[in-house]
Amino acid sequence: MFLLFPLLLLLLFTPLPLNADCPPPPPLAPRATKLRIESLTGKVTATELANFAGFVRQLTLPKTALENVIADGFSGRNIQAMGMVYELSRDPQLLDTMIANADAMLKLRNDPNKGRVMWTGKRDLVWITEPERDIHAGYAGAENGDTIGHIAYTAKLILENPCLLNRTVTIGNKYGFGKTYYDRAHTYIYELERTMDTYIIPWFINNNTLTEIYPKNVRFPTTDIDTHFGGPLPWNQMMMLNNGLQRLAEAHELLGDNPEKVSYYDSLVNRSIHYMTDHFLKRTSRGHDTYLILYLAEQRFRPKGSSVSTHGELTEIHLLYDVWGLIRGYHRANNKYGISKDLLTRVANTISYSLVHRDGKFGAYCDGTGSVHHLPGPYLLYSEFNSDGYLSLAKVMAKHQALDVASVLYMKSRLHLQH
Ligand SMILES: *[C@@H]1O[C@H](CO)[C@@H](O)[C@H](O)[C@H]1NC(C)=O
Ligand SMILES: *[C@@H]1O[C@H](CO)[C@@H](O)[C@H](O)[C@H]1NC(C)=O
Ligand SMILES: *[C@@H]1O[C@H](CO)[C@@H](O)[C@H](O)[C@H]1NC(C)=O
Repeated sequence: MFLLFPLLLLLLFTPLPLNADCPPPPPLAPRATKLRIESLTGKVTATELANFAGFVRQLTLPKTALENVIADGFSGRNIQAMGMVYELSRDPQLLDTMIANADAMLKLRNDPNKGRVMWTGKRDLVWITEPERDIHAGYAGAENGDTIGHIAYTAKLILENPCLLNRTVTIGNKYGFGKTYYDRAHTYIYELERTMDTYIIPWFINNNTLTEIYPKNVRFPTTDIDTHFGGPLPWNQMMMLNNGLQRLAEAHELLGDNPEKVSYYDSLVNRSIHYMTDHFLKRTSRGHDTYLILYLAEQRFRPKGSSVSTHGELTEIHLLYDVWGLIRGYHRANNKYGISKDLLTRVANTISYSLVHRDGKFGAYCDGTGSVHHLPGPYLLYSEFNSDGYLSLAKVMAKHQALDVASVLYMKSRLHLQH
């Protein structure tokens, strides 16, 4: 108490940190052409962090949104990886690389004056994923929510660092998105909200039920055989929208500029997460409680040749997005969506006892059937609830892409702190 009181006084009268109080950034990491992990357990090392920063800095910036490359594709996964490692290192040079990628992504958005006319008859503020001459050329779907999420995550991480806010962005202002870090984050949020307000919210949200849906319009061009106009999206696509909604909610919360928007977005994320988890089917594997997760809620709309499998979802992509979206929701401040540890443990069991095979390979479907040589990094994020699969997964991931290596670093750090 004696000690606490003066400390409280000190806290009360300490102004927001000025730039002068900011820690000096670590030296610029040398370019690295290979990802490197020194050990799968224990503390994350300075070498590992520098190697990661030096590696992602030399990657080419995104030049197209086609084929989902800046959503769930290569560049989208890379920018998520940068954010994840930045959360460990808080190294401004890594944030700068992330900003360079976010700039490039925002710049790729459809031009409202000269861009492509979409299925709505308008030059919507969307990211175009289909080639010009494709029969689905006018399509833009839930993957846009994922791209929004990547850029909004960058804004959130900028706003979390008061030291940086008034400084000039080190990598310059090529596209006029803002000279200081604060201005840059502000532009991201402002521009992303334009896409939310004019495209995502009007077409992909049913406000009566707060459900994330396919546009209720037969003109919506779709490559997805399960499309039911106005019906609920498959879980993985809901989680893509959630990436945008949750990250924007977090960024607005830091700005303190729009509490109504924060609670609206949170209610949408919350609704879809509970909708999804309410549909998890209970199973057991190797004596442990697990789940079977199917592609979408409305199985009765399953057409012939549908991507719905009785073995559950494909682990390389659809299930990946479900479990990634769920754990991102769990990491929302104060566990706002009320996701229970029992549920997360049962998902972790599914990973450890259904997906991780005894021969070092992994299930291709949620029930563990099929066989693949690798699973993407975010599966590792459940290891704090059950770590039996950790080493098998991490061993393979350590040799893969930025998202895999970032997930190993992130998780080994959390597991190390738990001990
Ligand atoms: C940053 O700049 C704003 C005005 O643009 C000012 O109000 C604020 O005090 C500055 N913050 C710091 C930490 O220098
Ligand atoms: C749905 O609700 C949000 C938040 O209140 C609002 O901004 C949006 O315009 C509504 N959409 C429709 C189609 O009414
Ligand atoms: C989230 O959804 C659950 C289940 O429907 C509900 O009980 C809870 O109040 C919701 N929380 C928020 C923040 O919307």
